Formats: sequence, C-alpha cells, structure tokens
Amino acid sequence: QQVAAGKVLVIRDPKDTSKLAALNPTCTHRGCTVSWNKDQSSFVCPCHGSKFNSDGKVVNGPADKPLPTYTAKLEGNTVLVKAG
Ligand code: FES
Repeated sequence: QQVAAGKVLVIRDPKDTSKLAALNPTCTHRGCTVSWNKDQSSFVCPCHGSKFNSDGKVVNGPADKPLPTYTAKLEGNTVLVKAG
C-alpha cells in the first residue's frame, strides 16, 4: 500500500506493519523518483537502479546518500506526516 502526496511517499513499515514509513522519494543520485518494490523490500530508482531500504538507507549505488525520512502515523483513515 503506497500513497504519494507531493514529495512524500508513505508505506507500511515492512518490519512492523502497524507503523508507517515516510520519506522523500527523490533519488539522491540524480533526482528521479524511486518507488517501493515489494518483492525486493526496498525503494528502487528507475533511472540507474539505486536501491534504498525502508529506512531510506542506500543498499545499492550509484546513490550514496540516504533518502530523507519523515515521521508518519495513522490516525483513523488519515496519514499524518511530520516534517523533519
Ligand atoms: Fe536514481 Fe540515478 S537518479 S540512481
């Protein structure tokens, strides 16, 4: 389950599905938009194949910086995202 709103991508945390993980999906390599790949349990960039884990950390280059993450929680049917 994935909701894109502006520059924030929110997914259910694969390690704890009661939690949400939110991050900026702009690849830190050249700025393409990554998307969540369920089979690989990672964010994959379509441009040069960088991979990030659910915490935004780099698993595979060429990107070398993590994706910025946000704090997100579910309240009823509303996803609240806190910047920073
Ligand atoms: Fe994402 Fe190059 S822009 S890997």
